[in-house]
Amino acid sequence: MADKTFKLNTGADIPAFGLGTWQGEPGKVKTAVSHALKSGYKLIDAAYCYGNEDEVGAGLADAFASGIKREDVFVMTKVWATYNTRIGLGLEKSLKALGLDYVDLYLIHWPLLLNPDGNDDRFPKKEDGSRDVIHSFDHREAWKEMEKLVETGKVKAIGVCNYSKRYLEELLPVAKIVPAINQLENHPWLPQTEIVDLCHEKGIHVVAYSPLGSTGSPLASAEPVVKLAEKKGVSPYTILLSHHVSRGHTVLAKSVNPDRIDANKNLVALEKDELKLLDDYSADIVAKKEWKRYVYPPFGVEFGFPDKS
Ligand SMILES: NC(=O)c1ccc[n+]([C@@H]2O[C@H](COP(=O)([O-])OP(=O)(O)OC[C@H]3O[C@@H](n4cnc5c(N)ncnc54)[C@H](OP(=O)(O)O)[C@@H]3O)[C@@H](O)[C@H]2O)c1
Repeated sequence: MADKTFKLNTGADIPAFGLGTWQGEPGKVKTAVSHALKSGYKLIDAAYCYGNEDEVGAGLADAFASGIKREDVFVMTKVWATYNTRIGLGLEKSLKALGLDYVDLYLIHWPLLLNPDGNDDRFPKKEDGSRDVIHSFDHREAWKEMEKLVETGKVKAIGVCNYSKRYLEELLPVAKIVPAINQLENHPWLPQTEIVDLCHEKGIHVVAYSPLGSTGSPLASAEPVVKLAEKKGVSPYTILLSHHVSRGHTVLAKSVNPDRIDANKNLVALEKDELKLLDDYSADIVAKKEWKRYVYPPFGVEFGFPDKS
C-alpha cells in the first residue's frame, strides 16, 4: 500500500504516503528524512515556515549519496505567507535550503499575506502582539504568481493548502491552472467533506495532513479506530493512515522516530464497511459540531471553514 501512487491532474504520479517534517525537533529531521527514504518512503513534505528545509535538504543529500535517485523521490514544499507577493523569491530560498534544482510540487501554505516588510521573516507581529496580516491582499494574486513558476521548470506542479470550499470557489474561475492538490487537515474528527467533495469534482487531489491529530497523536485513542485496529490486528496509527489511502487520498505522517517511521509505512487496505464505520463516526461528530481542528494559526482571518465560521 505504501508503494501506491495516485495520478495528479498534470499526469504525474504522487505517492499515496509521505513523511511530514513539521515540528521535527532540530537535529532529528536530517536522520528522519534519510531513514525514511532508505526504508522505502518516496514522498517528503516540507515548508519554508517549518524552519528546517536545510535539514530536510541534508537528509535528501544523504539519501541521494546512498544511491537513491532524485527522480524517484517526490518533494513538495510551500511558500510561506510573508512571501505570497514574492513567490519566486520564496521558491529560490526553499530550493537553496533543500539543495534541489526543482520541487515536484510547490504549494501556497495559507491563503493570506503576512506583512513582507514586518518585524519578522516568518511571523511578523503588530505592536499589540497580533499577527501582522495585510487584510487587503487577494489570495488569487498569489495563485497568478504560482502559475508563472510552472514554465521555469523549477516546480513540476503547483497546488494549495488550507483552501476551504469558499476559497476554492473564488480561485477556480480565475485559475489558468487548476491546483494539482489541496493539502488540508483531515481525519475522523475533521472530515471536511464539503471541501473533499469539491476537490474530487474538480480533479484536485486531496492530501491529508495531521492524520493522527498532530502533536501527541490523540486520534489513536478514538473508539472506532481502536476497535477497527483490534479487528484487523494492526495499530490504531495504521488505521488512521490507511483510512486516507483506501479513499484515494495521499496521507502525510510526521515522525522523527525511526521505529515509528518504519511502522507507519505498513498500511492496510480498508474494506467498504470499514471505511463506512469511520465515515459514520465522522458524520456523527460533524452533526454534533464536536469537530476538532488542530492546526489553525491565530491569523484573525476568516478562511471559510464551517467549523470556524
Ligand atoms: N499544509 C499545512 O498547513 C500543514 C499543517 C500541518 C501539517 N502539515 C504536514 O503534515 C505532516 C503531518 O501532520 P502533523 O505533523 O501535524 O501530525 P501527525 O502526523 O498527525 O502526528 C504527528 C505526531 O504523531 C507522533 N507519531 C507519529 N507516528 C507515530 C506512531 N506510529 N506512534 C505514536 N506516535 C506517532 C509524532 O511523534 P514522533 O515524531 O515523536 O514520532 C508526532 O507527535 C506535517 O509534519 C507536515 O509536513 C501541513
